Amino acid sequence: MSKKKEITKAKLDFKTDWAYAPAPEDSGHISLKKQYDLFINGEFVKPNSKKYFATYNPATEQKIAEIAEADEKDVDKAVKAARKAFEKWSKLSGKERGKYIFRIARLMQERAREFAVIETMDGGKSIRESRDIDVPLAANHFFYNAGWADKLEYAFPNRNPKPLGVVGQIIPWNFPLLMAAWKIAPALAAGNTVVLKPAETTSLTALKLAELIRDSGLPNGVVNIVTGAGKTGAAIVNHPDINKIAFTGSTDVGKLIQRSISGTNKKLTLELGGKAANIIFADAAIDQAVEGIVNGIFFNQGHVCCAGSRLFVQESVADIVIRKLKDRMETLIVGDPMDKNTDIGAINSKEQLLKINEYIKIGKNEGAEIYQSSCAIPSKGNFCRPTLFLDASQSHRIVQEEIFGPVLTVQTFRTIEEVIEKANNIPYGLSAGVWTDKGSKIFNLTNKLRAGVVWANTYNKFDPASPFGGYKESGFGREGGLHGLMPYLNL
Ligand code: NAI
Ligand code: MG
Repeated sequence: MSKKKEITKAKLDFKTDWAYAPAPEDSGHISLKKQYDLFINGEFVKPNSKKYFATYNPATEQKIAEIAEADEKDVDKAVKAARKAFEKWSKLSGKERGKYIFRIARLMQERAREFAVIETMDGGKSIRESRDIDVPLAANHFFYNAGWADKLEYAFPNRNPKPLGVVGQIIPWNFPLLMAAWKIAPALAAGNTVVLKPAETTSLTALKLAELIRDSGLPNGVVNIVTGAGKTGAAIVNHPDINKIAFTGSTDVGKLIQRSISGTNKKLTLELGGKAANIIFADAAIDQAVEGIVNGIFFNQGHVCCAGSRLFVQESVADIVIRKLKDRMETLIVGDPMDKNTDIGAINSKEQLLKINEYIKIGKNEGAEIYQSSCAIPSKGNFCRPTLFLDASQSHRIVQEEIFGPVLTVQTFRTIEEVIEKANNIPYGLSAGVWTDKGSKIFNLTNKLRAGVVWANTYNKFDPASPFGGYKESGFGREGGLHGLMPYLNL
């Protein structure tokens, strides 16, 4: 441990000139620095501009730390380090690469608690979700892809798989550590080197991952992590020596990136927004379906690209489903993300809360009937009550546009044809859910729904072995599984 102001005591000591976030009751043994630098060529370096920006705990609105802002010169340094590292890394045997990736996975499991606490402090998601879903899944992505590193020839027979070179990866704030794992693990397994940028409101777990990567002994420059906002992201996209861009985030920025790299040789995968239909047929197991609706929209405060944000209920069961859904919503606890009983944590940022509240206003003005659970919400911090819009119609903006919050629109339907037509009649095509007792209906719908992922009698289930990605304005390319390796290889 360096002599820098690192805090390793059981409780964080935040007596400084800033109004730092106080230590959560249960934060034993997590170590956070006051200030975070860029991770380039295996070490932490100051940003060229000397500029830092604050990251906040969205549940308390208190500052947690300062994060370096990378400019074009820093990005160039990171790309050069990655290019140099590529020469050696791409020549290592798959077996050797796999060993490093396995080591990262194991270290992540060892430090799981620290990652979970920091993820929740920095991003606002409930500690139960960070601990039980995000961190274990992130480690699993490294385990899964480590296994492919020495089997690429077998995975793609007679296609002579070769790495692309230096890949630039830009990730969002809804699953910060998990998205870093989704991006870095397959890139390394395929033999590429990486320059990754986390989202500006949630850099901390990516920087913790940088510390882990340094400790893992991964050769310098194989993974570089630069922090900053859109300008830093654009510097990665526009760097001439990048071979591929992998982006997850808003459709607007995705389109911008697509325009910026057109005419270059850079490869691109985009994982963008969504507005998934979650379809409940009259023959479904109603109580399970209600749990699936709740998990579909309220998981991670609804900050989920594949969230089941449009509910379709068959008319004959609409009354009972909505009554049960309202009852279930009353039991949801909204509040302190660090509390193990919390179901819905903090909205990731003030900006996102404003956006959600704006859509709630739009929904009311469009004439949909609003229902919000009556739970108490903290007076401080960014919080939003679980919200339904009943009697929503297909032309409403709240039905057509991605809200990215705990807001569900409800529509009813009579026939299969009608619901397929409505489910597909939006600009997005990332995911969908189908709840029915009949297997034939499931097969019929999975073929006709224009969605990359269709869940049947479950929702928001993720596995490193299963590919994920969308159609239309939800982007292109797949992540996860064998399909997720392909965009990182020349075949
Ligand atoms: P965003 O698309 O601006 O941010 C995602 C990432 O892109 C961040 O790392 C950001 O710094 C980076 N970025 C921003 N501008 C860039 C540029 N010009 N070039 C390269 N990188 C750039 O998303 P934002 O503004 O945080 O959220 C707005 C809306 O986008 C949300 O309300 C939600 O609807 C949607 N969104 C969807 C996500 C998904 O997983 N599909 C994730 C995040 C946001
Ligand atoms: Mg933050």
